Amino acid sequence: MAHLIDGRAVAEKVYAELRGEIAALKASGRTPGLAVVLVGDNPASRAYVRSKDKMCRELGLHSVKLELPAATTQDELLARVDELNRDAAIHGILVQSPPPKQIDEAAIVRALDPRKDVDGFHPLNVAKLAMGDDSGFVPCTPLGCLRLLREAAVDLCGANAVVLGRSMIVGKPMALLLMNKGVDATVTVAHSRTRDLPQVTQRADVIIAAIGQPHFVKAEHVREGAVVIDVGINRVDDVTSERGYRLVGDVDFEAVSKKASAITPVPGGVGPMTIAMLMSNTVKACRAAARS
Ligand code: GUN
Repeated sequence: MAHLIDGRAVAEKVYAELRGEIAALKASGRTPGLAVVLVGDNPASRAYVRSKDKMCRELGLHSVKLELPAATTQDELLARVDELNRDAAIHGILVQSPPPKQIDEAAIVRALDPRKDVDGFHPLNVAKLAMGDDSGFVPCTPLGCLRLLREAAVDLCGANAVVLGRSMIVGKPMALLLMNKGVDATVTVAHSRTRDLPQVTQRADVIIAAIGQPHFVKAEHVREGAVVIDVGINRVDDVTSERGYRLVGDVDFEAVSKKASAITPVPGGVGPMTIAMLMSNTVKACRAAARS
């Protein structure tokens, strides 16, 4: 049975570090502020936004939650982003993805002040990550995955890391992070068109699963002793559950945990780390604003 990488415990460690930094910022008259914008009423998005707001409050951050109707236009959303860009009490802005279909998400991301882009989605921050410039923001989920690997003392230098998925939120930034100097993994990015996937993933020392399909990664994909990070949070119907669904990862945990040397559970693995890294990026944005 694999070692369980406990995301809740590592997130608590991050919060303990952040509390000290937040106290120091407050002592100098600055309170980190985060604005989270939700357009529409996607139930999973609502749940994420609620937990982000709750965590801000627990840490004593200034938190603004903007819930806009599903029919919000591009211009209305751009106007709200512009207000937040100019609001000195706000250091981080997150527009929850995915927005409704009338919204051009890429244009919204470009409209964000890159210094407040705590999601790390703005082209300037993507470029900084690609260039190995650590003054920018790295997307929270891959940053959380890397922290989990560090805390689990996984040796990444020269290791074969296979990233499953090529999204701008997880797959691509994860690959860039892992290949950057100082991490030094040998990175393969696999996706829905990859040929003979099991043969690719069998070579991996570390697998990062971010494809958004429940239980996609099976025992046949995993080499004995590999480390498996499961980014998936999929709702599957479950009549025995009060809510009518349960959360499962992209990895068939039952089977894969018998082969892996270490694995993250769902829930309680990557999920708590994403919010912890968002708080960390918000504190970083506040610190940078204080210097300028
Ligand atoms: N939707 C799912 N994950 C994320 C995230 O990290 N940031 C934003 N803005 N939306 C998301």
